[in-house]
Parts: sequence; structure tokens; C-alpha cells
Amino acid sequence: MDNFRSLVTALSLVCLSATTAVIAQDNDKASDGQSEFEKALALTPNIDNGRKLYKLCVTCHGPEGWGDDNGSYPQIAGQLTGVTIKQMADFRAGNRDNPIMRAFTSVRALGGAQEIADVSAYIASLPMTEYNGQGSRRDLELGREIYLRDCADCHGEDGEGDVKKHVPMIQGQHYKYLERQYRWIRNGRRLNANKEMVEQIENYSSRDERAMLSYVATLMPPAEKLADADWTNPDFPNYKRSWRPDPTRERRAIPR
Ligand code: HEC
Ligand code: HEC
Repeated sequence: MDNFRSLVTALSLVCLSATTAVIAQDNDKASDGQSEFEKALALTPNIDNGRKLYKLCVTCHGPEGWGDDNGSYPQIAGQLTGVTIKQMADFRAGNRDNPIMRAFTSVRALGGAQEIADVSAYIASLPMTEYNGQGSRRDLELGREIYLRDCADCHGEDGEGDVKKHVPMIQGQHYKYLERQYRWIRNGRRLNANKEMVEQIENYSSRDERAMLSYVATLMPPAEKLADADWTNPDFPNYKRSWRPDPTRERRAIPR
């Protein structure tokens, strides 16, 4: 497992240096994340092509798209297509500051708006794991109160997101990933984040933040979006997985 991880890190570094030049070239072609987002959104996705393109993504996101409960990689399976398209366009345009994802969303690595649409639709079709990484699970009542009051209007009562407004589904996400993205949205590192959300989250105490994100991590996707814990993606039969969910860990049972 550790060997596998070091291999992934080494590979990422190699890819990174190899793609620096490519990124520089891509900059003028893809600097406008908004228009790329709108273009990709209007296209009809080809899921079969998305499946092929997803080979580029498995090393980090896993064949199931379940990420890693240590939060280094998000669960992307089942995410709303429009949301994934927007995030891909934002990485590519540098609105989200992540050199690794920027390299893998570059024109040369992935392709144009059509390919963004294709791979996003494939990701949306993947069933999710319900065994995402949890937070402390303390103050969950407080977290629920704040979430329902301040977040549910946009993200939905169960964190299911909003298809029309491209608000991300945040149910089933790993706690540590939620925490990092929340922090980066609050401190402006995610340049193209939702301005209303940024204003909304200016003034919480750190206890409030931990409580509500811990609560969000307990929100479960509906049964029809879930896979069994031992499900493996048949599109990648022989892949050696770096993280698998552990169904024996303490689970939710949260008051609703
Ligand atoms: C070398 C590792 C690596 C590869 C390969 C990779 N990613 Fe990522 N991806 C990451 C990391 C790390 C993050 C988290 C970035 C952050 O924290 O801002 C991420 C984040 C994302 C997100 C944002 C999800 C969210 O909800 O915020 C999407 C979407 C995504 N990746 C899609 C893809 C797709 C599609 C591919 C293949 C074309 C891909 N990734 C390839 C490492 C990788
Ligand atoms: C006005 C609508 C709105 C409100 C209110 C709002 N959000 Fe968001 N949130 C969004 C949108 C839109 C995004 C996607 C931003 C982007 O495209 O980068 C987002 C992104 C996020 C993300 C990152 C998800 C990911 O996969 O990258 C987290 C975590 C999050 N919100 C949590 C919260 C929490 C917790 C609250 C309540 C305190 C909240 N949001 C309130 C609209 C909102």
C-alpha cells in the first residue's frame, strides 16, 4: 500500500514536470473558464468516450471514483454533471489552484470542451460509496441546526446539490476534503467560488465550522445512488486499489 502511494506520488511528480510546458501553452487557449464551462454544458456527452478518458483519472480518484477517506482525493462518483464540468473548467483556467488537476485537465492531456463533458457524464454515472471519511461527529445537533439554516437552501436538505444552479452535491464527501475546500472557499483560494456562499460563511466560529462539516459528512446519498461496499468498477477489472471503504467503521445513525 505504502509502496503504491509512493509510486503514485512519484508518477504525479513526473507528470507534473512533463506538463508544465503544456500548461504554459494551454493558458491562452483555455484561460476563460466561464465560456469553456458554458460550451461543455451545452454539448451532448458521450459516456463511452468518457469511460476511456477516465483511465487518466483512476490513479488518484480510484476506478470507482470514491477518492480516499484521508481527504487527499474527493469522492467524485455520482457528482452532478454540470458541477464536475464547472470544476474541470475552473482547474483548467487556474481558478482552482491545484497544479496536479490543472495538468490533468490540460487540453493536451484531456482534450477540449467535449472531452470535459464526456468524462463528467461518466463520473456522474458511477455509483457512490456511503463509507466516506467522517469528522469528529461531535456537536452534530449544532451542526445540523446551522446546516439547515444557512446551507440547505443551496446545497439541499440532504446535501444533494442543485442541478439547475450547479451547486455541488456534498453528501457522501470525505470530511477532510470538505474541510479543505470550505477553508479555500472562505479564504478566497477558490477564485471562481459562489460569492453568496463566501459572504454567508464569513463569521462562523471554528467550533461551528467543525460541527456543520462533521454533520455534512454524515449526510447520505439516496439508496439508488449507492454501491455495495465491495463493488468494484467492472470497467477496470485488474486495477490495484489504494483505498477501499471499511464498512465495519462507526457509521452514522444521526438524528434527522
Ligand atoms: C495525479 C492525481 C490526479 C489525477 C490523475 C486526477 N486528479 Fe482530479 N483531483 C486530484 C486532487 C488532489 C484533487 C483535489 C484538488 C483540491 O484539493 O483542490 C482533485 C479534484 C478533482 C475534482 C474536484 C472535485 C470537487 O468536488 O471539488 C474533480 C471534478 C476531478 N478531480 C476530476 C478529475 C478527472 C476527471 C480526472 C481525469 C481526467 C482527474 N481528476 C485526474 C488529483 C488527481
Ligand atoms: C448561495 C448558495 C450557497 C450557500 C448559502 C452555500 N453554498 Fe456551498 N457552494 C455553493 C456553490 C455554487 C459551490 C460551488 C462553488 C464552485 O463552483 O467553485 C459551493 C461549494 C461548496 C463546497 C465545496 C464542494 C466541492 O465539492 O468542492 C463546500 C464544502 C460547501 N459549499 C459547503 C457549504 C456549507 C457548509 C454551507 C453553509 C455554511 C454552504 N456551502 C453554503 C453554493 C452555496
